[in-house]
Amino acid sequence: MDAPDGIIFRRPTEADYPTVVRVIDDWWGGRKMDFLLPRLWLQHFTGTSWLAETTDGALAGFLIGFHSPDQSNVAYCRLIGTNPNLRQHGLGRALYERFFEDARQADRHEVHAITWPGNKTSIAFHRAIGFEVQTGPGTQNLYGVPAIAAYDFDREDRTIMVRTV
Ligand SMILES: CC(C)(COP(=O)(O)OP(=O)(O)OC[C@H]1O[C@@H](n2cnc3c(N)ncnc32)[C@H](O)[C@@H]1OP(=O)(O)O)[C@@H](O)C(=O)NCCC(=O)NCCS
Repeated sequence: MDAPDGIIFRRPTEADYPTVVRVIDDWWGGRKMDFLLPRLWLQHFTGTSWLAETTDGALAGFLIGFHSPDQSNVAYCRLIGTNPNLRQHGLGRALYERFFEDARQADRHEVHAITWPGNKTSIAFHRAIGFEVQTGPGTQNLYGVPAIAAYDFDREDRTIMVRTV
């Protein structure tokens, strides 16, 4: 499996929680986003998640995901982020490749992710690595992308993306 030079991948542990949550607002462009990752994600989902570090141990990226208890063919990526100084060098792809391989090993063949349709980087990234944006009933064009209005919290629009693995 390809890995960018000088990057080490491992499973996160709960001890990584402060390091990970501390970077979220910055990595997500300065908006207050750390509420996306309560501690429970690094207590109960570490076995299906990935952390990337530089050789000096600095956080390079993370993917927090799980295998759906209700949908036996589905693995779900909750959050993926890479250090802004390391972007567009294949790190996000490398994190997803590991998550895809975990899904295959567990005989799961669909990976789901959702994103805010205004997050152009996220949409372009997911499309580039093979996700398809879901269209059809309930979707409308928002920010130029098929999305479901008021999908979360009865107010937040979301684009749903699926990749077969
Ligand atoms: C989205 C994100 C994880 C991408 O990470 P990355 O390390 O830059 O991704 P990669 O370098 O592996 O890029 C993989 C593909 O996506 C494409 N891509 C990445 N960023 C892109 C951008 N800003 N615009 C267009 N395409 C982009 C790359 O060109 C690449 O395609 P290629 O292999 O065909 O050249 C990163 O930008 C990020 O952390 N963003 C903030 C958090 C976020 O929005 N996360 C997603 C929602 S949870």
